[in-house]
Amino acid sequence: MAKKDNMKVPAGKQMGPGGKGRFGKPQNVKGTFFRILRYLKGYWFLIALVFLCITINSLSSIAGTYFLMPLINEIFESPTPDMTRFANTLTIMAVMYAISIVANYLQARIGISITSGMLHRVRTDLFSKMQKLPIRFFDTNSNGDLMSRFTNDTDAMRQLVSQSIPNLFSSLLTVVGVFVMMVYLSPVLTIIVVAMLVVMTVFVKTIGGKSAKNFMRQQAEVGRVNGYIEEMITGQKVVKVFNHEQDTIDGFNEINNSWFEANYKANALANILFPILNNLSHINYAITATVGALLSIGGIVDLGTLVSFLTYTRNFSNPIGQISQQITFILSALAGAERIFKIIDETPETDEGYVTLVNAEYNLNGELVESEKRTDMWAWKHPHSDGTTTYTLLKGDVVLDGVTFGYEEGQTVLNNVSLYAKPGQKIAFVGSTGAGKTTITNLLNRFYDVEDGKIRYDGININKIKKADLRRSLAMVLQDTHLFTGTVRDNIRYGRLDATDEQIRKAAKIANAEFFIEHLPDGYDTVITGDGANLSQGQRQLLAIARAAVADPPVLILDEATSSIDTRTEAHIEKGMDTLMSGRTVFVIAHRLSTVRNSDAIMVLEKGEIIERGNHDQLIEQQGKYYQLYTGMFELD
Ligand SMILES: Nc1ncnc2c1ncn2[C@@H]1O[C@H](COP(=O)(O)OP(=O)(O)O)[C@@H](O)[C@H]1O
Ligand SMILES: [Mg+2]
Repeated sequence: MAKKDNMKVPAGKQMGPGGKGRFGKPQNVKGTFFRILRYLKGYWFLIALVFLCITINSLSSIAGTYFLMPLINEIFESPTPDMTRFANTLTIMAVMYAISIVANYLQARIGISITSGMLHRVRTDLFSKMQKLPIRFFDTNSNGDLMSRFTNDTDAMRQLVSQSIPNLFSSLLTVVGVFVMMVYLSPVLTIIVVAMLVVMTVFVKTIGGKSAKNFMRQQAEVGRVNGYIEEMITGQKVVKVFNHEQDTIDGFNEINNSWFEANYKANALANILFPILNNLSHINYAITATVGALLSIGGIVDLGTLVSFLTYTRNFSNPIGQISQQITFILSALAGAERIFKIIDETPETDEGYVTLVNAEYNLNGELVESEKRTDMWAWKHPHSDGTTTYTLLKGDVVLDGVTFGYEEGQTVLNNVSLYAKPGQKIAFVGSTGAGKTTITNLLNRFYDVEDGKIRYDGININKIKKADLRRSLAMVLQDTHLFTGTVRDNIRYGRLDATDEQIRKAAKIANAEFFIEHLPDGYDTVITGDGANLSQGQRQLLAIARAAVADPPVLILDEATSSIDTRTEAHIEKGMDTLMSGRTVFVIAHRLSTVRNSDAIMVLEKGEIIERGNHDQLIEQQGKYYQLYTGMFELD
């Protein structure tokens, strides 16, 4: 997002996620279908029940119609109408229709619990997968796009299971059932109906095919409209700052127009299709009725049979239209499911690390051993291939040895960077934006892995360390702070979930956040919403520092942690920061050179290389880049 902020947006060429063709046809209909079935595991009984209900519903309504024949024949065809038999038939008919209604109701009720269960599983899988994906994944997928997996695509799956498939099944069943009954009642009339049907099918195929294509396009356009809206809501301030309101509206109009067009075409065709189909079925009905009447006069069919048959004709064309419509729905829902599965199938962040962080203590012989208790001493437990296990005290000794790295192949961001930080040392990185400072920290906590060279932590190659344990031993104040919906207290506690209220207050004091927190309406219990929109950027940074302080790790990384804090407040928190840094290995990245002045070593980075190193005095003496920066001969940014 931030990278795009200052891009000029020409009118009508607006940015926004969700390209064309997102809602294509599914690639693998069968595979995806079976995969959805797997999400329905444990519901087989209920699903069988649903299909049973659908079957009962369809068959009883077909049977209900059939009983029109004896009913009418009793009155019109029989010389002496038997009223008791008439009443009995009427009762049976009523019972049939009642059964059909009950089955329909049950089907809907059971269907809800099946789809809720399935959606619950799909969302759980999708969300937990998202938590396991490497940072790299989020670099290449837009938020809006990911969100639509949880909204549009899961909803399509819900419709698939709760409506499309049951409807398809019921339509097929009705068509087959009605056909059988029609043949049974009058083969001659059936031939007429089928002939008409062929005409209708050809018609549906030509127009319906086009409609289906437009229907898919329309869905893709909905995705684009949503993505655009979401992006512009998040970027509202930037839009206003650069006076891009009109451009944004123009861009929206363009996307909205193409949605309109697609929607119009899809529905216009569908809207023509259905009236025409309707009329065709009226014509069908009229022809069948006329021929039927002639046959009836000729005594070939009786009146009851004719009425039953004609009623069936009415119930015949409707499900046929349904079938083609449901197939379109099913295909687009399967495409949605495929997009969900694609994320679920992404390779998670791998972790081949086997060195773990354990509580440690010295035994009577003075050896470092693992401890069951919570000691305040930690050690790296390192199992070796020869079966032995060694323990190394967690000290926070960090070495970068010839580290080379690029986010994309062929693009070197860091080139042969070597440095060391002894436990308790403060190492500073300075250099212009894009020099690679944040990238170094991304490698330290293994958001990304080095391409070449090694990073050692307490003498252990960090590739061997389990990621969770590595990250536990480092606290980071990221360049982009993020606060979660919750109280101020909860947000600080995020650094260490078992921290007591007292420890939280202490951490807030260290970060000098205590003062402003106490002035918030509910103090520590003030609820922060929308990523801390009700706090200033500087206040958010103070909370982020407090969060790192409460984590209490041996290594601390501060990436522009005080960039939005004014110099006076910074001077205020200097003491707190010194307390926070003392006894820890600290990597500081700062624009303000006063913050890095007292570091043990300052690394000046340029284009991914360390061009100068030394402490403040040495670098000043060198009269190089740092000297220029410091004396203001060269401004950062
Ligand atoms: N996620 C990423 N994907 C691709 N390139 C990136 C990514 N993050 C940073 N870069 C590039 O790496 C270079 C160094 O960035 P960074 O380490 O963030 O610089 P800084 O010194 O300002 O912290 C820049 O050229 C930047 O464009
Ligand atoms: Mg940076």
